[in-house]
Amino acid sequence: MGSACKDVREEVIQAWYMDDSDEDQRLPHHCDPKKFVSLDQLSELGVLSWRLDADNYETDEELKKIREDRGYSYTDLIEVCPEKLPNYEEKIKNFFEEHLHTDEEIRYCVAGSGYFDVRDRDDAWIRVWVKKGGMIVLPAGIYHRFTLDTDNYIKAMRLFVGDPVWTPFNRPHDHLAARKEYLEAFVQTGGGSHAVDAAA
Ligand code: LAC
Ligand code: NI
Repeated sequence: MGSACKDVREEVIQAWYMDDSDEDQRLPHHCDPKKFVSLDQLSELGVLSWRLDADNYETDEELKKIREDRGYSYTDLIEVCPEKLPNYEEKIKNFFEEHLHTDEEIRYCVAGSGYFDVRDRDDAWIRVWVKKGGMIVLPAGIYHRFTLDTDNYIKAMRLFVGDPVWTPFNRPHDHLAARKEYLEAFVQTGGGSHAVDAAA
């Protein structure tokens, strides 16, 4: 137990600050030197994560419990590759436009991998690499985007509370209630120096 116990989630979910080069979006875009972000730091931005048994997602009791606890009644599977995703090129382009949603974005990677980029409190990009077995929740109102990595394939379960709404609101959409609520919950009350910044 305690700090000596490795966080098994980090075997399938890793996060780091991005460099600002214009190179291929599917490259890792590490800073030099690399600047990793812990899953605890992500949770302070409202980004939740789990490691699950992706070989048994149909019968997994742990997934069932998460769904019950959080009310995730809806699921489907999306495969992102030219053969399986209609309008592939257009969707890939739209996924990488910075946007927010008025509900959580919940994704469970059951095969392949991909990058979910989220903005931190200072508007810097954090790249969240989700591989097979990784499940993440992006809170409503957080600005984010998605891209495949250089392996070019992900199969993800999408979950939702009730009837799904996938509408992306491209930045800026700061007047939406979901955005204001996100800022109140995770940015203005961020603690430490951020609380001072917000009060200044
Ligand atoms: C979505 C991801 C791509 O909105 O952010 O589906
Ligand atoms: Ni999204």
